[in-house]
Amino acid sequence: MSILRVHDKAFEPYLSAELIDEKIGMIATRIDQDYVGKKPLFIAILNGAFMFASDLFKKVSIESEISFIKLASYKGTKSSGQVITAIGLDTDLHGRHVVIIEDIVDTGKTLSEFLPQLEHQQPASLKIAALLHKPEATVYPITVDYLGFSVPNKFLLGYGLDYDGLGRNIPSIYQLVE
Ligand code: IMP
Ligand code: MG
Repeated sequence: MSILRVHDKAFEPYLSAELIDEKIGMIATRIDQDYVGKKPLFIAILNGAFMFASDLFKKVSIESEISFIKLASYKGTKSSGQVITAIGLDTDLHGRHVVIIEDIVDTGKTLSEFLPQLEHQQPASLKIAALLHKPEATVYPITVDYLGFSVPNKFLLGYGLDYDGLGRNIPSIYQLVE
């Protein structure tokens, strides 16, 4: 098994690029079916979701739009519990069918703080697409409408996910070796 070292930690392969690609294809097919004629607006949460958002958006074939927002709630391998809005949303959500694209739902804090801000703008609907969900880490319950993988409560790296800034460019997902 190929162990990857990033900063002071060791990671082992967990989800292959092929498996991720296959799962995203399945999510895109469901979205195509659920949103036909609704011109959904995807809102991707930077930085972590950029790769998932890009791959998912390419596979969605119905008429749709995408926008980006930057929030951060993470430092190192433990959630800092702080959510900061750095880049605002420039699209009016009123009456729109909105799909949030998130890399991973961990404690749920990020989305539990962000969703009310969006609901305030009265979208026609609001759903969540997340590549990964750690149910055991839940502090703020979040319903993930379009989920890639339910994963154990272990730190993951790659495919957009970083460990102190590094590892986002890895095309597959690695898991921390404890
Ligand atoms: P939450 O607010 O606790 O749900 O945290 C969500 C955010 O924390 C995600 O959007 C990620 O940016 C980050 N995060 C959570 N778990 C991991 C992980 O295992 N690896 C890297 N980043 C993570
Ligand atoms: Mg994130």
